[in-house]
Amino acid sequence: MIRAGVVGWPVDHSLSPKLHGYWLEKYSIDGEYLKIPVDPKDFEAGIRALAGRGFSGFNVTVPHKEAAFRLMDEADAAAQRLRAVNTVTVRPDGKLQGGNTDGFGFLENLKAGLGRPALPAGPAMVIGAGGAARAIVGALLDEGIGDIRLANRTAARAERLAADLGGPVSIVDWDMRDGNLADVALLINATSLGMAKSPTLEFSLSGLAPDAVVTDIVYAPLETPLLAAARARGHRTVDGLGMLLHQGRPGFERWFGVAPEVDGRLRSRMLEALGQ
Ligand code: ATR
Repeated sequence: MIRAGVVGWPVDHSLSPKLHGYWLEKYSIDGEYLKIPVDPKDFEAGIRALAGRGFSGFNVTVPHKEAAFRLMDEADAAAQRLRAVNTVTVRPDGKLQGGNTDGFGFLENLKAGLGRPALPAGPAMVIGAGGAARAIVGALLDEGIGDIRLANRTAARAERLAADLGGPVSIVDWDMRDGNLADVALLINATSLGMAKSPTLEFSLSGLAPDAVVTDIVYAPLETPLLAAARARGHRTVDGLGMLLHQGRPGFERWFGVAPEVDGRLRSRMLEALGQ
């Protein structure tokens, strides 16, 4: 029996057990994926204990991603750049290897949604500067996007993100976020705005070229007000659910030995779990 799970505090709301549970069943794997609540004050002991309890690895979610990074014996390039870990593999010698698959999840979702392996050619506009925005900007840099624009309510946070990641990232004033969109090929909401029970993102799409693609990290609701407005204008849109699904693939493959697929049935199951 191969064992993995997700570490968080609280962890009850995590959708990862549904995701990995679906794949375990689909590929008939003798394994389990558990919810593992770990209080931040017991974090280090909690993590070390998992290695001793025979876990092959685990996901890390809020609020532990940064603390997990500091505990790793080894971290991949994405985790080092973001200083945050969401996927941990326990090596046979007990050492912990950390990775960050959020950027991978974002790219794979976008490519799957567009049905092609290349991103829209041209400038990308990212709204937000939190952990998700960091992973997305990193992924866009890896894809060679040569003009990345960043707008965040708290400008200092956007400036720190740009300084930490380097590359062709420029800051747009929050008040000017929808003011200069004519050449933007890809618009990304990387904030929590638009999520059920949150304020919506105030954003006029009127300056956006018709062939620009619009995507959102929010997946509840699946069609956010931003995506609905974009669709009404005829833009191609990609919803945020697949980012969650695709980010789980590398961990599942490492722990359980099968490269899993994101299929339509998985999406339906997850939407059901979300009550949509
Ligand atoms: P995550 O790790 O999921 O990205 P986060 O680090 O809390 O979460 O980041 C949330 C993002 O949503 C930030 O860009 C935040 O802007 P600030 O840096 O100014 O806080 C943005 N956000 C959340 N609520 C917002 C609001 N009411 N108006 C504008 N931006 C908001």
